[in-house]
Amino acid sequence: MSIRLPGLIDPHVHLREPGATHKEDWDTGTAAALAGGFTAVLAMPNTRPAITDPATLDLALRAAESKARCDYAQYLGAGPDNLRHLDALAPSTAGLKMYLDQTYGPLRLDRMELWMEHFRRWPRGSPIVAHAEARTLAAVILLAAIYDRPLHLAHVSLREEILLIRAAKERGLKITCEVAPHHLFLTQEDIPRLGGGRSEVRPRLASPADRDALWENLAVIDCFATDHAPHTPAEKDGQDPPPGFPGLETALPLLLSAVHQGRLTLADVVLRMHTNPKKIFALPEQPETWIEVDEDAAWEIQAAHLFTRCGWTPFEGWQVRGRVRRVALRGQEVYRDGKVLALPGSGKNLRAAQPAKHI
Ligand code: NCD
Ligand code: ZN
Ligand code: ZN
Repeated sequence: MSIRLPGLIDPHVHLREPGATHKEDWDTGTAAALAGGFTAVLAMPNTRPAITDPATLDLALRAAESKARCDYAQYLGAGPDNLRHLDALAPSTAGLKMYLDQTYGPLRLDRMELWMEHFRRWPRGSPIVAHAEARTLAAVILLAAIYDRPLHLAHVSLREEILLIRAAKERGLKITCEVAPHHLFLTQEDIPRLGGGRSEVRPRLASPADRDALWENLAVIDCFATDHAPHTPAEKDGQDPPPGFPGLETALPLLLSAVHQGRLTLADVVLRMHTNPKKIFALPEQPETWIEVDEDAAWEIQAAHLFTRCGWTPFEGWQVRGRVRRVALRGQEVYRDGKVLALPGSGKNLRAAQPAKHI
């Protein structure tokens, strides 16, 4: 049966432009988003150069303006010397991203004083998102408590993390979190099948007990975010494979398959892929925007049919139920039955300055 859902919002994607357009760019990444049922994406700042100041933000937003096929906003990265820019740039960004643990790209902040300064100075009302794993997650939750401001935790993957977040929420802290589908559907046990380089991702694939703890604490999970992190097969299979999986086109089918199996409800999915991300990131309404999904359609995931430029998926060959048939964005049909109809540049910056109102 075909059903209509609101346009999905992905608060965590890597579109690789500027700097690594052989992996993905604003065009292919947002085409993949539409094919996956996402009408809005929030783009991470760990590009080359990283997005940390007016010049680099302009670089990303100019590429987005000419190429994006779905709506978007761009994060600013917390860097070692960009405190002076935070106030002016915050309104034009999705939020501030802080990399506090080892990951892909140049943006890791090691000095805790810099964490403190960013918490103190990032304008209230604009979101802060942290990549923080295990004990680092505990540390950054303490900072959020001390500076008394909302904090969104990226790609939670461990039992100890989801339990700590549950406790923090019970205590009344303004913490929200996201989980990536790969941490719900893959574990360390999949590493031999995927191969060493292809299974590299941060946070790493965890144990079956960690995965089970995520499912058991669904109520603690605010969002499902793909952490779409494309790298090419040659890079993944080569020396020093970079961490990351593409995810935009597989997230909804995997979750709809879980709905089909009775592991969660459609309402659980809509809450975590539309309602909550919209609220947490204070995104504007996208009028006349919806997706049409065939809940029962059975199909096989094949990288050859995906729009992402990276050309592979860790879910190759998986049999799934649930397929995106049509996507409408602001009144326009932008995707239908395997074809992306939106033109590059038709996507809108959800943080574009509102034109001043003249009375
Ligand atoms: C991400 C990437 O490749 O940009 N990789 C990943 O394994 N998740 C970086 C990140 O999200 O930490
Ligand atoms: Zn990360
Ligand atoms: Zn990421």
